[in-house]
Amino acid sequence: MAEKLISLWVFLLLIYLVKSNLDDARPLLDEFSGGFKAAGNDLSLDGVAAVENNGVLRLTDYNSTMKLGHAFYSHPIQFKNSSGEVISFSTSFAFVITPQPWREGGDGLAFAISPVKGCPGGKPGEFIGLFNASNNGNFSNHILAVEFDTYMNQEYNETDSNHVAVDINSIISNKSAPVVQFKGDDTNGVPLNLTSGRVIQAWIDYNSPTNQLDVRLATDSAKPSSILLSFTVNLSQVLNEFMYIGFSASIGLVTSSHYILGWSFNKNGDAKSLNLDRLPKPQLPSTATANKKSQTGLIVGVSVISGALAVILLAALTFYVVRRIKKADVVEDWELDIAPHRFPYEDLKKATRGFKEKELLGSGGYGKVYKGTLPNSDTQVAVKRIPQDSKQGLKAFISEVATIGRLRHRNLVQLLGWCRREADLLLVYEFMPNGSLDKHLFDEPRSILSWEQRFKIIKGVASGLLYLHEEWEKAVVHRDIKAGNVLLDSEFNARLSDFGLAKLYEHGSNPSTTRVVGTLGYMAPELTRTGKPTTSSDVYAFGALLLEVVCGRRPINSTASSEELIVLVGWVWENWAVGTVLDVVDPRMEGKFDEDEAVLLLKLGLICSNDDAEVRPTMRLVLRYLEGELALREEVAMPYQKKGAAGAGRGTVEILNYMQSFPTTWSSVFDVDGR
Ligand SMILES: *[C@@H]1O[C@H](CO)[C@@H](O)[C@H](O)[C@H]1NC(C)=O
Ligand SMILES: *[C@@H]1O[C@H](CO)[C@@H](O)[C@H](O)[C@H]1NC(C)=O
Ligand SMILES: *[C@@H]1O[C@H](CO)[C@@H](O)[C@H](O)[C@H]1NC(C)=O
Repeated sequence: MAEKLISLWVFLLLIYLVKSNLDDARPLLDEFSGGFKAAGNDLSLDGVAAVENNGVLRLTDYNSTMKLGHAFYSHPIQFKNSSGEVISFSTSFAFVITPQPWREGGDGLAFAISPVKGCPGGKPGEFIGLFNASNNGNFSNHILAVEFDTYMNQEYNETDSNHVAVDINSIISNKSAPVVQFKGDDTNGVPLNLTSGRVIQAWIDYNSPTNQLDVRLATDSAKPSSILLSFTVNLSQVLNEFMYIGFSASIGLVTSSHYILGWSFNKNGDAKSLNLDRLPKPQLPSTATANKKSQTGLIVGVSVISGALAVILLAALTFYVVRRIKKADVVEDWELDIAPHRFPYEDLKKATRGFKEKELLGSGGYGKVYKGTLPNSDTQVAVKRIPQDSKQGLKAFISEVATIGRLRHRNLVQLLGWCRREADLLLVYEFMPNGSLDKHLFDEPRSILSWEQRFKIIKGVASGLLYLHEEWEKAVVHRDIKAGNVLLDSEFNARLSDFGLAKLYEHGSNPSTTRVVGTLGYMAPELTRTGKPTTSSDVYAFGALLLEVVCGRRPINSTASSEELIVLVGWVWENWAVGTVLDVVDPRMEGKFDEDEAVLLLKLGLICSNDDAEVRPTMRLVLRYLEGELALREEVAMPYQKKGAAGAGRGTVEILNYMQSFPTTWSSVFDVDGR
């Protein structure tokens, strides 16, 4: 009898198991709808992602920078049926991003569907751990992501630092919307701050027959009827038959923790909405004041111990604390309001192995630059150590650091953070493996830059400079454009460095003396008169840089032979005048260059180098010529060629005088639409 009962029971269990496996209407992923405590092998984590003891999934950690975390469901999910049609799906999850009361949170969180677990090759920072600079935008990525972005990347046309967007194969969003939340059936949303520290539930639904991808958000358990973002897309080219689903989050220079509290997923039907009250809550990072309180608590506790022992202990403790305070980094209240990440001094010391001479990358006008590897990560950085002698200028100095720390563009070297210790100011930058441009151009470079590389570098510098001049919230004048300040990343993209530093340096010096900061050969003539750097003086320096890159020579070369004039601009002008301008192109390229492009660059270089500031083009125009959006007129050079014949064969001074006597207006040189 008992045996029969057991076998019946086993039989029923088998039927149940088989049936539940076949039953496709069952919510696919229901086990995380109350947290991730029992996730075990069903969740694949990488980067800094971890499941905390209470069942909260933490993707990034408040205490670090430039990190990413991935958490993917370990099992593949079928996204196309046997006839190749995409299957409708629905997911819901609850998340928390730690509050950032005084700044933008960085960088964001995304739900992702990927052909492999995690997104191998994804980079932290602006790529939200999904893509990297080389695969960004490739159709072969097969990645669909819905990002919750808390940082405004102007280079990706983002319009605010609090938006939801659909990203297909690229971090440049297909569609985005600022975050608002709808209550119940209300159709007028109220703004919702993603970094408010509140629990936010998101619903993402894809309806395959209508190709409709909808995103909804709320701070409660009920799914709102109003849709925050709706995007029409046929995913059949994006998704493979089997895909993995999960989350990616990353932090750049501004740290925050990204938590997922619960998650459900379903196919051919709505995912279960999460009951927010039943979810585990994250342990939000304690604030600086909380730390201070616990320290005081310790001291009070010790003093309660009676007798001499307590006195001795207290004295020792006080001695220790005072010593620690004396040695500690200097932090004043106002410094806490500053945007980029503040690094602990000890981390930077460790990173550069105690500022060892062996780690020295170079030393410039502002200080020494060391290579370093941040502890607890493999992020390579360049640390610039600037001695600071004037206390007075310090506040202005650091507030400028805060400003330049918010500048972000693919052709700028990103400032990751800073640190102040006694008289030293330390600035932490991204590390650029290929060093500075001048090392690849002058003297005896290890390898010769190809024409394509040179053209790309010039375009990069131009677009970085345009961003500084016109595309940021206020115009930033670089003040020290030169080959030594153009760094090259692993793919030889130009990245401007030291922007704003010249201005910072002025703050540090005696404010009653204005001094001109710049480098000879790159300094516009009006600078010596007015002492006031402008975007136009940057354009002048850009012109000099452009000629250098094409010619492979320094702007002023005292060792050149007499027929190769000492001033590069003059020499190019002279060759231009006699119709031999292509002779100035760097001979080390052995003639392997595009002649039309070379002529374009040389013309642009000459025009930017005009002594008359009014006559130089803006960077926006320069970029349009470089992009081929505006064409150079055929007869561009003609005025110089005709009159220039008289100038041929003269000395530098005469040539320069001659140039000054000839008022070039660039509108006579370029086709200018409507101007
Ligand atoms: C595949 O899905 C499409 C759209 O949902 C549906 O029309 C079609 O009948 C499905 N085919 C099979 C074989 O299930
Ligand atoms: C970018 O990601 C791809 C994987 O999608 C990887 O193969 C490639 O090596 C990565 N590139 C860099 C520069 O990290
Ligand atoms: C999506 O595109 C595929 C082919 O690219 C097509 O066969 C399919 O019918 C489309 N689906 C919808 C719902 O438009």
